[in-house]
Amino acid sequence: MTDKTPIAILISGRGSNMAALIEASRAADCPYEVILVASNDPEAAGLDHARAAGIATFAHSHKGLKRGEFDAIIDAALREAGVRFVALAGYMRILSEGFIAGWEGRIVNIHPSLLPKYKGLDTHQRAIEAGDAEGGCSVHVVTPELDDGEVIAQARVPILPGDTPETLADRVLIEEHRLYPDALAAYIRSHG
Ligand code: GAR
Repeated sequence: MTDKTPIAILISGRGSNMAALIEASRAADCPYEVILVASNDPEAAGLDHARAAGIATFAHSHKGLKRGEFDAIIDAALREAGVRFVALAGYMRILSEGFIAGWEGRIVNIHPSLLPKYKGLDTHQRAIEAGDAEGGCSVHVVTPELDDGEVIAQARVPILPGDTPETLADRVLIEEHRLYPDALAAYIRSHG
């Protein structure tokens, strides 16, 4: 038995942030335990990592389903598992209002920009094209408006001459892996 808060992580791909959250959750003083990793892509590479780490997985393709129908399937899997908080980690689906309402204040996301700048996609390319001196990442509470909820924590990196979206993404990703576990832990401690 554990008195840690049970969480799920939703992924769509590689799952490197998921791996950072799982790793951090092993620490005795970490307030959360990852009890489920769920994906809208049964082929997501992160699912294999989760299974290898001994964590239950749930995968169901969103293809051919309406957004609300698909989210109801994910919602049922989360509730069946006994999840209390949901961490999005490279989850590339926009969540329906109904789903978000059912988890109000209990879904967090990591986004690869310094919000409120560059909501949505292609964040690094947009930061470079704008001539920004810095890029970064933000952990925020998920609300119905895309990438718009309260920002819990941010990390900044310089944008260097000659940076491409890929080189900047690599630099930001290192900070994502540092930022997300601590920001999630702090959020769950104060809202759990
Ligand atoms: C991360 O950079 C994350 O911030 C971003 O996708 C990547 C996922 O990598 N998320 C978004 O763009 C959400 N809109 P990962 O699967 O290795 O964690």
